[in-house]
Amino acid sequence: MPYEVQGVVSRAKGEPVALETVVVPDPGPGEAVVSVQACGVCHTDLHYREGGINDEFPFLLGHEAAGRVDKVGAGVTDLAPGDYVILNWRAVCGTCRACKRGKPWYCFSTFNAEQPMTLTDGTKLSPALGVGAFLEKTLVHSGQCTKVNPEAEPAVAGLLGCGVMAGLGAAINTGAVGRGDSVAVIGCGGVGDAAIAGARLAGATTIIAIDTDDRKLEWAKGFGATHTVNSKGLGEDAVVTAMQDATRSFGPDVVIDAVGRPETWRQAFYGRDLAGTVVLVGVPTPEMRLNDLPLIDFFARGGSLKSSWYGDCLPSRDFPMLVDLYLQGRLPLDRFVTERIGLDGVEAAFEHMHRGDVLRSVVEF
Ligand SMILES: NC(=O)c1ccc[n+]([C@@H]2O[C@H](COP(=O)([O-])OP(=O)(O)OC[C@H]3O[C@@H](n4cnc5c(N)ncnc54)[C@H](O)[C@@H]3O)[C@@H](O)[C@H]2O)c1
Ligand SMILES: [Zn+2]
Ligand SMILES: [Zn+2]
Repeated sequence: MPYEVQGVVSRAKGEPVALETVVVPDPGPGEAVVSVQACGVCHTDLHYREGGINDEFPFLLGHEAAGRVDKVGAGVTDLAPGDYVILNWRAVCGTCRACKRGKPWYCFSTFNAEQPMTLTDGTKLSPALGVGAFLEKTLVHSGQCTKVNPEAEPAVAGLLGCGVMAGLGAAINTGAVGRGDSVAVIGCGGVGDAAIAGARLAGATTIIAIDTDDRKLEWAKGFGATHTVNSKGLGEDAVVTAMQDATRSFGPDVVIDAVGRPETWRQAFYGRDLAGTVVLVGVPTPEMRLNDLPLIDFFARGGSLKSSWYGDCLPSRDFPMLVDLYLQGRLPLDRFVTERIGLDGVEAAFEHMHRGDVLRSVVEF
């Protein structure tokens, strides 16, 4: 029997989201229905609502979630009702070229549920990032469920499903930060603070937090920032100088841009040490351009320029490990939860995000 449950739906570009009744089918082959216990509000949900991702309205929002498996479909052998899982948007296929070459985090053929979730009139919903978890029960592909230690509470564990994983992975996986490295992180929201926490976990000894908001810099210290720079009103040269001042004039080994604008990327490009690494994890809009970057500067400075999709994570490898580190007191994941809200609080949470009042608002069921 299909379920009828309440979910947060975005019907039209720029319009406030609303609670609607959603029909969730029984799981088909390879699929699972999960009872969602908590789901964080991510900037990407707001991008969907603003039409910034695509035009496939209506969207079913929410994608940073943890819960219990409710039912599994035919052929699902590695998951059972009652299992505690974090939902992921990288259920790797195992057969594409990237997977076969041993780099499954680049998988370009990831799995989602095949059956649609719908409104009661049959209108198909587009689930955000193939998840759709501002919903009491959601339908996903079984590969989108990653089992983790149930001692980690859902509001905290679920955050690994997107933004926090993206930031941690930008430092640990993409940036390959190592012991004794110096790291700067530009933009200290949920993603940037996770990059700071990741840099600390990896053994960085100098971690420079850069933001335009003093409240964010204060929070960044709690995740491991050793230096802070308020870059509001500072030109590119002043931000570069501030990074050099904190690193005996060399510049950081790795600079992570968790804003994703041409000016912040240029700060990262010129701020890092010679042969240093730039990691772009903030998402630029399509019209942004890098104008007038001399090619000789790229050549002469060496190093590597990378971008990081979902922190280059492999959920089955990274989620259980990061949950264990949290439970051992070595990764302060709970600090990302600024407020706990109900399903009807998502629109207000977008407002809080916009004002910079929160790292994460988390819907609890
Ligand atoms: N690559 C991925 O897989 C991935 C995954 C999730 C989110 N993201 C992206 O990461 C970015 C950050 O997400 P978030 O949830 O942390 O957002 P957020 O809005 O919580 O944080 C952004 C931070 O950047 C600061 N900021 C803005 N302009 C700045 C500037 N010019 N210089 C310095 N700081 C500045 C803000 O004060 C804020 O603290 C977004 O672009 C989001 O879409 C990427
Ligand atoms: Zn693949
Ligand atoms: Zn997200």
